[in-house]
Amino acid sequence: MTVKYIDQIDIKNKRVIIRVDYNVPYNSSMEITDDTRIRSTLRTINYCVKMRSKIILISHLGRPKGKIVPEMTLKPAAQRLSRIIKKEVRFFNDEIGEGLQNKIDRLNPGDICLLENIRFYPGEEKNDDDLGKKLASLADVYINDAFAAAHRGHASNDAITKFIKTSCAGFLLKDEIEFFKKALENPEKPLGAVIGGAKVSTKLNVLENILNKVDYIIIGGAMAFTFLKSKGYDTGKSLIEEDLITSAGEILHKASKKNIPVYLPVDIVAASEFKNESPAKVVPVENIPKDMIGLDIGPETINLFSEKIKNSKTVIWNGPMGAFEMPRFAEGTNELAKTIAGSRCLSIVGGGDSVTAINQLGIADKISYISTGGGAFLELLEGKKLPAIKALER
Ligand code: 3PG
Repeated sequence: MTVKYIDQIDIKNKRVIIRVDYNVPYNSSMEITDDTRIRSTLRTINYCVKMRSKIILISHLGRPKGKIVPEMTLKPAAQRLSRIIKKEVRFFNDEIGEGLQNKIDRLNPGDICLLENIRFYPGEEKNDDDLGKKLASLADVYINDAFAAAHRGHASNDAITKFIKTSCAGFLLKDEIEFFKKALENPEKPLGAVIGGAKVSTKLNVLENILNKVDYIIIGGAMAFTFLKSKGYDTGKSLIEEDLITSAGEILHKASKKNIPVYLPVDIVAASEFKNESPAKVVPVENIPKDMIGLDIGPETINLFSEKIKNSKTVIWNGPMGAFEMPRFAEGTNELAKTIAGSRCLSIVGGGDSVTAINQLGIADKISYISTGGGAFLELLEGKKLPAIKALER
């Protein structure tokens, strides 16, 4: 079974529910600090406007656990969308039922409304059929454009599809699925994976899965120290997941049996404290001082990793190369980001920190595809079938 896409479905003059992911960050004054996820749904919404559909947007925000939490209202998201799309976006916080249905019925073709946070309903996270049915009754067509929430099987992205005649993926979800396929299922080779971040524990399943797909793996970030430790290096005070040293060693062993090179740092930037002001020095991995912490990859490692990336046709990147939130230890991450952006390969980047690095450097337009998913992107890399995508195949 394959997923149908929005451009294969007749939505002209129909009532459409679009599941979006407007789970965006806010500051303490309730202002949205990053509206990327809202902007990424514009293509689908504008297409529906053009088709003169009545548009009902549904999203979650935060984790209110089935209760009404006023600070987690989606009203600011409706206002932001309205500003970006230059069109009124009605915000309906009515309970799903007759009153809401009447308001939706009164919408004109091409009108847009956003409903209140769907996680205010206890049935949402329980993937409750009753809630799915009620949601389905509001529209004729269901469009899922919430890739970032696709690893959750909830009423608004799973149960609903059992009760509505037509379900499909919007343009954002289509891109996420298609780019991922291009990179991992049918890639131009060599295909490399650049995996970083603090913890091996969050990437173990990813590494296991991609071993069967990629031509090489680059490992950076604090997680590299657990791998170095498994090879017998003394890693000083660097972050180590003691209980995963054996698993890290096993990954290296499996990779070598499959002839898949795994590139680890050869030099690092070490500091005595986890602080930006802490004096730092570059040391080879054979000589990490006992009282120092590795906080970034060193210049030789940057060269080694960059060389591999430049010779690739496809690269997938998830996770920073060091403690890049501190400018002194951001160079490794920034240099690799620039190398990936400057290379001619098909580049797919996912995960909050890697995407932040790319946005801070202003090079997002040089990356082939930036995923909007954090957890969802990782679960795809783990080889899992995402519940919301499975539901669309139903
Ligand atoms: C995300 O930001 O990863 C998605 O919106 C899913 O949110 P959740 O982790 O609260 O389910």
